[in-house]
Parts: sequence; structure tokens; C-alpha cells
Amino acid sequence: MHILHVVGARPNFMKTAPVMAALRKRPNIIQSLVHTGQHYDKNMSDVFFEELGIPAPDVNLGVGSGTHAQLTAEVMSRFEPVALEKKPDLVLVYGDVNSTMAAAVVCSKLLIPVGHVEAGLRSFDRTMPEEINRLITDQLADYLFTPSEDGDRNLCREGISPHKIHRVGNVMIDSLVHLLPLAMKHKTNGFPHRYALVTLHRPSNVDDSQVLKRIVECMVGLSAELDVVFPVHPRTRRRIREFGTNTSNLHLLEPMPYVDFLALQARAAVVITDSGGIQEETTYLGVPCLTLRHNTERPVTTEIGTNILVGNDTSKLRSELSNILAGNAKQGKIPPLWDGRASERIAQIIAQQAAPLEAESRT
Ligand code: UD1
Repeated sequence: MHILHVVGARPNFMKTAPVMAALRKRPNIIQSLVHTGQHYDKNMSDVFFEELGIPAPDVNLGVGSGTHAQLTAEVMSRFEPVALEKKPDLVLVYGDVNSTMAAAVVCSKLLIPVGHVEAGLRSFDRTMPEEINRLITDQLADYLFTPSEDGDRNLCREGISPHKIHRVGNVMIDSLVHLLPLAMKHKTNGFPHRYALVTLHRPSNVDDSQVLKRIVECMVGLSAELDVVFPVHPRTRRRIREFGTNTSNLHLLEPMPYVDFLALQARAAVVITDSGGIQEETTYLGVPCLTLRHNTERPVTTEIGTNILVGNDTSKLRSELSNILAGNAKQGKIPPLWDGRASERIAQIIAQQAAPLEAESRT
């Protein structure tokens, strides 16, 4: 059985790494990897391949940046001939980025089965490009690997056959479990002893100069009490420069490699973010997380984890920060099946499908 994985952007890499590793242990499965090139900077892409032990891609489509339509169209037109040439038995796509949806559309038209890893998540907010990617990918996928029970419920509500849904747990937590011991050995030379860790990249927070100014002003205010460490996404860096946003007193860094960032998260007094994955990682780590969004497609992190949604309301952000700094942070639990073995469960399900294919090819 030939499985082809498609990745494109930073949050895909920590999801594909453990799945590829789990499938590598299975006889009769061969794998190939296509990188669409949606993220292309060394520190947004290459460092993750090195640290996570992902093999070099067999093909890099080199699509680069563009509008949503341009990016999606480029991935589709460059991926189609690759899919036709490689003739995989199954294509695995990850998460909710534009590359995920583009590859799923191509495969379903070529009648190539698709598996979606991290299926079923819904923010119910169609102004988010990721929500559109999730809805389309899940409608087209043949195997839907969900991280939590809410994912199964969302898919059933959308009419997806329960036979296609496999609740396996969270593959991103597999990478975390695997690399946390290494991260905890990292020295924190040069970093403050106690700090808040900030990440920001959603268009709704960074593309509007007034919204960005309010959020960053709040961080500058916080820095009077607590050091603020802020690895800056390329989009956000461009906006800060363009709007002349005042970032004085903040520790601005380049986007960080996986293990360094994990070390920073694990030791943070609080994490302030608009990322999807970081809401999950902080829940696993038991670190307080304030999410600068009105909704989340990962409700389990607010229901049983350490996550609190603050929208872009900086007075709510300030009051939640005061609670945390006063030692009254929300306590959380680790959600079921976030145990470092989700990828093994995916490999098991795929191997079961591979068996009849093998038998067929022998006859
Ligand atoms: C994408 C994903 C988002 C994910 C995020 C993580 C979609 C719709 N969005 O958003 O879900 O949370 O990745 O980062 O797919 N850029 C660089 N170098 C790079 C990559 C991007 O400079 O290596 C700049 C480009 O100018 C680009 C901009 O960042 O235009 C945004 O990149 P893009 O891939 O469109 O979306 P992200 O905001 O990164």
C-alpha cells in the first residue's frame, strides 16, 4: 500500500511526523511526502523537518505565498500531475490549512481515497479561512481521524457516515510527548526566569492596525510586571513594521524551532495566543492559556483544559492576567486519548485497510 502525505504549513509538520513514524513500522506500507511550499522560510519549515525527523519531501511544489485563491489554485494545479504519476492508494492530509483542502479536492476528483488527520474540528465561524478548509476537507475525506468527541459529533451532524469516523486522539500531542524530555533539558540561557509567552498571527488580530495596536499595547503594559517573550510570525512582523506599532520592552524573536518553543511554553507563567495548536499544547502541559479569539474549534481545551477565550477584549485579557499572576489560574485536565499514541491508532486502522489490498494484489 502506498500512502502519500501532503503537508504545506508549519502546523502540519508536527502532525505528520508521528504518523509517518508509526506507519514506517508497518510492513507492506510505503510512504511518500509532498510539501506544497506554502511555508518556505527556513525557520517556518526546514527546522521542523530536521527536529521532528521528517524525511526530506519527495516533491516540493514550491507554491509560495499568495491570496487564498491563488495559493489553493497553485497547490491544486501543481499537485494533480504528482498524484497522477505517483498513484497512491491513500493520501493523508493534515489540519486546516489551504494546502490541506487543495490536496483533498484534487484527490477526490481523481478518485484517490483521502484520510483527514484532525477531522471534525469546528469553530462555527465561517469568517475564518480554516473553517472553510475544514468543512470541505471533511466532506470529501474517506477516513476522518478525530482528536476528541466533539469532532465526531460535528461530523455526524453534517451527515458524515459514522463508519468513516475514527476517534484516535491528538497526533500533535504525540510529537509533544516524544520531544518534551528533550525540551526540558534545554538551558534557558538568556531568557528571563518568569515570563509570559505571546504568539499572534491571525488576520483578525494582526491585519487591522487598531486591533493590533490595542493588543500590543496591552503586552507592553504587562511587561512592567512580567517579561514578555514574543516570537513573531512573518505576517505579524510585516504588519508591526507597516503600522509602526510600538513594541518597546517586549522580547521580539524570530519564529522558533519546535523544541525551543516547547521548552518556552512548558516554563511560561502564562501563554497568550491566537494559535489553534498552542491552545492544545498548553492544555497538555497544564500551562494557563489566554486565547485572543471569540471562539475555538478546540472546545475541549476550554471545557476541561487550561484555556480561556478572551476575544480581542483587552480589559478581559488584563483581568484574566491578574488572576493568573495572583496564583489563581484555572486548573485543567488532559483530554482522553491525548496520550502520545494517536498515530499508532491511525497506523493500525490504515494497516487493517491495507490487508485486503495486499490479498487482492496477490490474486
Ligand atoms: C497559515 C494557516 C494557518 C496556520 C498558520 C501557521 C491557512 C489558511 N492558514 O497561516 O491556519 O495557523 O499558517 O503559521 O492556510 N510568510 C513568510 N514565510 C513563510 C510563510 C509565510 O514570509 O514561510 C508570510 C507571507 O508573506 C505570507 C504570510 O506570511 O503571505 C501568510 O502566510 P500564509 O501561509 O498565507 O498564512 P499564515 O498566516 O501563515
